[in-house]
Amino acid sequence: MDTSSYKPGLEGVIAGISAVSMVDAEKNELLYRGYDIHDLVKHCSMDEVAYLLLYGELPERAALEAFNQRIRTDREVPPALYELFRTMPNNAHPMDRLKAAVALLAMFLPEDESNLRKAERLYAKLPTLVCASWRISQGQEPIAPDSSLDHNASFFHLLTGTPRTDYLAHVFNVTQILYAEHGFNASTFAARVTVSTLSDLYSGVVSAIGTLKGPLHGGANEAAMEMLQEIGSPESAQQWVRDALVQKKKIMGFGHREYKHGDERAKIVKGYAKELAERTGNTLWWEISELVEAEMLAAKKLHPNLDFPVASVYYLMELPIPVYTPIFVLSRTTGWSAHIIEQLENNRIIRPGHLYNGLEKRSLAPR
Ligand SMILES: CC(C)(COP(=O)(O)OP(=O)(O)OC[C@H]1O[C@@H](n2cnc3c(N)ncnc32)[C@H](O)[C@@H]1OP(=O)(O)O)[C@@H](O)C(=O)NCCC(=O)NCCS
Repeated sequence: MDTSSYKPGLEGVIAGISAVSMVDAEKNELLYRGYDIHDLVKHCSMDEVAYLLLYGELPERAALEAFNQRIRTDREVPPALYELFRTMPNNAHPMDRLKAAVALLAMFLPEDESNLRKAERLYAKLPTLVCASWRISQGQEPIAPDSSLDHNASFFHLLTGTPRTDYLAHVFNVTQILYAEHGFNASTFAARVTVSTLSDLYSGVVSAIGTLKGPLHGGANEAAMEMLQEIGSPESAQQWVRDALVQKKKIMGFGHREYKHGDERAKIVKGYAKELAERTGNTLWWEISELVEAEMLAAKKLHPNLDFPVASVYYLMELPIPVYTPIFVLSRTTGWSAHIIEQLENNRIIRPGHLYNGLEKRSLAPR
């Protein structure tokens, strides 16, 4: 068997052409539709970035107002969704609950709309689903959406009953922007594969949610926080990492297929992790994180990815750990949708080949 053309994990394989984002791992640069993420987190709201990813340009004032109006008035979900959450096992994984909810939601939404409109609907409704799912699993009543609030304030309102527009809402906005898009990552690729069969946008997003759940992808933010909790104290950090590496364990929130010299997104959020630790006076997770990072660099030359600092940032924001990966979905749905639309604009079914290493041809006697 000639395996020379096979790249495990498709590493380095060019699987498509895209104008949505550019990842330059050598320069540590990430651009959404040509704009540097550093500029986007400094100057934009998540709603503006959602518009940018979906429509290709940042909105002028009137376009942004119209977009906001559409999103804010589209947050409601059919009552059947609340019923669905009530019938699910409370301990089911929040990503599984979300996957099922999006699949059901799709059946209530008009089929004959443009994909852009479908994408807007998902961006509007996903926070309602994520927060209602969590609250119902905790024995609480879901909160009705408030159309006067923006994406960030509304998320806190739907989760806790209290909107936020303060520093925490700003930090949340930054993480949402940084989670929104990232080239041909596994979940985006899954979405593109799904719609390349001419299946619908919602099915593409359901595939993507299932793919994002895994700890090697979006699930790493929750796994990273659980790891920090397991380490528990700065004194244990170095030895914990050493022991885990001896056991060939993957340290969650470290390493990346593309970035080998560090992830700019992680550097941005790390600044907030430090600031939040200082502001809250809870420096434990920051101290442990710094020690884990130093040990990973020394032992494996591996840098943290975005999920590592996000873990302690969300923890200090008092967000429940099982909701970290669903929060990733809230903004990544815009990146997925942009890729789905792009895939369909120039579609060819995605169907790679494989090398066979099974049994030789054999005969089958009559039975
Ligand atoms: C992101 C990830 C899946 C990339 O995988 P990949 O490109 O296939 O890289 P590999 O798993 O082949 O890693 C290359 C080497 O680094 C090691 N490595 C990579 N990430 C590691 C980690 N987080 N902890 C320990 N070792 C790691 C691998 O064991 C391998 O070492 P080896 O050559 O001695 O066998 C991988 O780094 C990982 O599992 N990270 C942890 C999960 C995570 O944070 N995911 C979020 C990604 S944004």
